Amino acid sequence: MLAVIGGSGLSQLANLDVSHREVLRTPYGEPSGAVTFGQICGRPVAFLARHGYGHTIPPHEVNYRANVWALCKRGAVGIISVASVGCIRADLKPGDLVIPHQIIDYTWGRKSTYHEGPEGTLAHIDFTEPYDRALREQLILAADAIGIPVSKAAVYATTQGPRLETAAEINRFERDGADVVGMTGMPEAALARELAVPYAAISVVANYAAGRADSLEGISFESIQGVLHESMGQVRLLIEKMVDRGD
Ligand code: HPA
Repeated sequence: MLAVIGGSGLSQLANLDVSHREVLRTPYGEPSGAVTFGQICGRPVAFLARHGYGHTIPPHEVNYRANVWALCKRGAVGIISVASVGCIRADLKPGDLVIPHQIIDYTWGRKSTYHEGPEGTLAHIDFTEPYDRALREQLILAADAIGIPVSKAAVYATTQGPRLETAAEINRFERDGADVVGMTGMPEAALARELAVPYAAISVVANYAAGRADSLEGISFESIQGVLHESMGQVRLLIEKMVDRGD
């Protein structure tokens, strides 16, 4: 079963033929909401809204451990994360879809490992390649097959939020090598790796990052929402194609 974690702009999968919803409990507390189970093209898919179904949980308060744990324990063999980002790299623009291949973690104070506590076992996962290569490849092949343009590599900078960045912070991220910036990429990716569940992401560019192009004078949250609505239609098609191909 493939699992999809949807972010801002994707609080449900319209093409999911829903069978039921389950409220799951985990040793790490409660996930962001009930997990929706169903089928896309006759294949099982689970969906979880990262910020809750009413979009009430801010990025730094998402229980990433519970979300990833719940999906894994209910049989997810792969997780696709969908999340909006601001773009830093010059060839990207609002509306673009990006499949990141690397991540930089600027977050702090988030519960970012299952390996802690008095009874925790020490583990240092390999995270050289934070996204699963095969799952990324499947997304890219699906996008090519239906002619949806995607940027096939990008470095995703994860910021703490919930505020947006300063222009100087974005300049720093760019010097660090980041192409896009979002608030939820970590610790989600690392937790999936700890549980050995393949994980890949579709980043949806919602806006130019702070201080860039039309964000020079500030970023309007309303315009972000409008862009997301259009692009999420493409995201749904992409996931559908990927599930349908089943490779
Ligand atoms: N910065 C951080 N997170 C985001 C942005 C941004 O500009 N846009 C959408 N998510």
